[in-house]
Amino acid sequence: MSVSKKITIAIDGYSSCGKSTLAKALAKQLNYIFIDTGAMYRAVALYAFEKKWINENSLNAIALIENLNEIELHFEINPNNGKPEIFLNHKNVESKIRSLEISNFVSKIASIKEVRSKLVSEQRKMGLNGGIVMDGRDIGSVVFPNAEVKFFITADPKIRAERRFKELSTSNSKITLLEIEKNLVERDLLDSTREESPLVKTEDSILIDNSLLTVDEQFELALRYVCKNLKKITNF
Ligand code: DC
Repeated sequence: MSVSKKITIAIDGYSSCGKSTLAKALAKQLNYIFIDTGAMYRAVALYAFEKKWINENSLNAIALIENLNEIELHFEINPNNGKPEIFLNHKNVESKIRSLEISNFVSKIASIKEVRSKLVSEQRKMGLNGGIVMDGRDIGSVVFPNAEVKFFITADPKIRAERRFKELSTSNSKITLLEIEKNLVERDLLDSTREESPLVKTEDSILIDNSLLTVDEQFELALRYVCKNLKKITNF
């Protein structure tokens, strides 16, 4: 499919709902850029963790804020699988940021106003020319409030935990299903109740509950909606 006008597609929703899977598939189909903004927050959390500014009991937000300029983030496409991977100060940290440890800290980091301003401004630059599918928690509400297409994704927390468990158990068998469910419920609560850009469903976003949908069914549903909108917007 090729259309001249490239639009912006915002995908927000709860943790481990398959937002990135959907975003990736849409970007591939449309030949758009895919940006996983969660990876950016995770990379900042990893930076703070490696500096020992965050642990289970404390967070040195002041040190992190003072050093935000030292953090350089960018994505590079992995030539082996065609997927974008995140680099923190020129080091590929794609697998490090997915650990349960970082998952447990990241919502605290994402609630810091200064961290959000830095990342939101970088995300806006990436999407300046449209042709982007970006997923996160505040894409349709804050980063691109004028995005032509907005999705809000949700699913039953138990089903989400089971999916994530299956995914993680191939690489890290020590994590239990209960730990995963606890982490995602906690993150949803923190992300939805924080002061700075909480996770909200904007009025103009399309709600998709994918509890009973396969990855392909969700993709087909979303693509139909995107195509309908593209026709309307671009007279394609
Ligand atoms: O999508 P994810 O689970 O990788 O995101 C990691 C954390 O980052 C999540 O707990 C919420 C936060 N986040 C955010 O606050 N805003 C975004 N745009 C993306 C992620």
